[in-house]
Amino acid sequence: MSYMATRFLYLFFFLNSASILLHGSRSHSLGTSTSKTTKRNSMMLNSFSSSDDDYDNLFPNGTGIVRADFPSDFLFGAITSAMKHEGAELEDGKSLNIWDQYARNVTGATLDGLIPGECGDSYHQYSEDHDLVAGLGMNAYRMSIAWSRIYPNSTHLVNDIAIEHYNKVIDDALEKGLEIFVTLWTQDHPHYIDETYMGPLNYTFVEDFVIYANTCFAAFGDRVKYWITFDEPNDYAGLGYATNQNPPGRCTTGIENYGKCWEGDSGTEPYIVRHHLLLAHAETAHLYKTRYQESQNGSIGIALWHRWFEPLTNTSSDLAASQRATDFLLGWFLDPIFYGDYPASMKEYAGDGLPELSSEESAKVKGSVDFIGLNVITAFYVYEYDFYEEDYPNTTCYYLDPKAAMTGERDNVSIGVGNHDYAVPWIIRKTLEYIKYKYHNFPSYITQTGEWNHI
Ligand SMILES: *[C@@H]1O[C@H](CO)[C@@H](O)[C@H](O)[C@H]1NC(C)=O
Ligand SMILES: *[C@@H]1O[C@H](CO)[C@@H](O)[C@H](O)[C@H]1NC(C)=O
Ligand SMILES: *[C@@H]1O[C@H](CO)[C@@H](O)[C@H](O)[C@H]1NC(C)=O
Ligand SMILES: *[C@@H]1O[C@H](CO)[C@@H](O)[C@H](O)[C@H]1NC(C)=O
Ligand SMILES: *[C@@H]1O[C@H](CO)[C@@H](O)[C@H](O)[C@H]1NC(C)=O
Ligand SMILES: *[C@@H]1O[C@H](CO)[C@@H](O)[C@H](O)[C@H]1NC(C)=O
Ligand SMILES: *[C@@H]1O[C@H](CO)[C@@H](O)[C@H](O)[C@H]1NC(C)=O
Ligand SMILES: *[C@@H]1O[C@H](CO)[C@@H](O)[C@H](O)[C@H]1NC(C)=O
Repeated sequence: MSYMATRFLYLFFFLNSASILLHGSRSHSLGTSTSKTTKRNSMMLNSFSSSDDDYDNLFPNGTGIVRADFPSDFLFGAITSAMKHEGAELEDGKSLNIWDQYARNVTGATLDGLIPGECGDSYHQYSEDHDLVAGLGMNAYRMSIAWSRIYPNSTHLVNDIAIEHYNKVIDDALEKGLEIFVTLWTQDHPHYIDETYMGPLNYTFVEDFVIYANTCFAAFGDRVKYWITFDEPNDYAGLGYATNQNPPGRCTTGIENYGKCWEGDSGTEPYIVRHHLLLAHAETAHLYKTRYQESQNGSIGIALWHRWFEPLTNTSSDLAASQRATDFLLGWFLDPIFYGDYPASMKEYAGDGLPELSSEESAKVKGSVDFIGLNVITAFYVYEYDFYEEDYPNTTCYYLDPKAAMTGERDNVSIGVGNHDYAVPWIIRKTLEYIKYKYHNFPSYITQTGEWNHI
């Protein structure tokens, strides 16, 4: 693995029977962990070790890999997110977030019909969760903070109980030897924000996010060395505003996946939402870097959903289509962050739907990360296909704009494991090589990977 010039965080996921599967197509971040050995934690080692000296719970028998193959400061971690794992939906002052609301309101929003508040109980059992992560031999833990706990209503009054709670969570994780990555938003802003001003469709979202982030930096930044502003903002904009697969479930009639969309514009809103999420990230990173970084000595990044788009054939049209698909998903955030502007292919194919970055915005966005977080799980084969000509002559939609269609099979052989969203291990290497080539080998962490099953 010597080709990996950057340091990575591997986050493995374990299906937790209580977890919800959020929308078939995107239910990948699940579960806390099971248990495992660590040098730090000899009690755990005794209870879980086998007689085989080579056995290593991080790399089960037969993989031919052991922990010692990696540098000791290489981070292996597990992940939870407030929305999916805390439970305690309305406890200690918390209000509903957009998923709490959506899961109640939309039939089919979750595969098993549960609402997030009925899944997991890490709000109360966080300490046991941390033991389990450390017990796996991991040295990192990625958690998230619920905005709807810190600011449960629009008064801009901080909920002190929430601050106390996360202080305890953070201290407990650090005591157990876990390096923590703290995410501020995992598609879980408070519902009142959508209700009062339509969430990230409105620039006010940027201002409110910065207020919330500032409170978190001030309260927890003395101990948090890795901040992640947004988790999968790139994916969220499409699922929530183009196809009604995520809250708020807005889209153009005829494009929806789950239930009818009463309102929305799949051809423009995803671009506006992502534009605002990018600006919220940039303003927050700017705040952190100017006000906190020197004294707190931490770093800040963003975690992007990256699906690998493998060209179906080597024709120039398929090669170009897979590059466009990558631009529309990953380049949409990383090109502005590294080069100050949206990808050229987006300007060409998204047409008027794509907002422009002013020179002031561009300057703030450029260089706004200390590391890139990549959620890398699935891949598809991609070929050029004009949906507008073939299927949807009378509409526009973010997902159709790149004129790239996807399939999970080539010559009847599926690209990976699964039957819908394929888990494909080799894309981790491909993705890192792409980052190395396209984005200056920038420090990167795999902030999510693994496989999920539909139970
Ligand atoms: C791994 O191999 C050891 C030695 O053969 C065995 O005792 C242990 O149960 C195996 N563990 C797993 C998880 O298969
Ligand atoms: C609930 O869903 C209906 C459509 O099924 C929609 O009209 C309504 O706006 C939604 N309400 C909320 C609060 O999300
Ligand atoms: C809003 O939240 C704050 C902080 O928890 C609380 O003090 C205040 O009473 C809440 N106001 C309303 C109107 O619910
Ligand atoms: C955005 O939100 C603000 C404050 O909540 C409101 O005054 C304004 O009208 C909203 N703008 C749009 C375009 O909806
Ligand atoms: C800041 O962090 C770096 C890297 O983690 C560490 O080497 C250094 O000692 C830290 N400096 C302070 C002042 O804490
Ligand atoms: C495309 O070309 C590359 C490089 O020569 C090769 O590795 C790959 O197998 C080709 N793919 C297809 C589908 O022919
Ligand atoms: C698109 O609009 C045209 C003109 O209104 C209409 O004739 C055609 O049937 C529409 N096509 C589809 C697929 O809805
Ligand atoms: C793929 O499978 C179908 C149905 O089993 C068969 O008709 C077809 O010939 C196969 N194609 C290739 C390229 O193997």
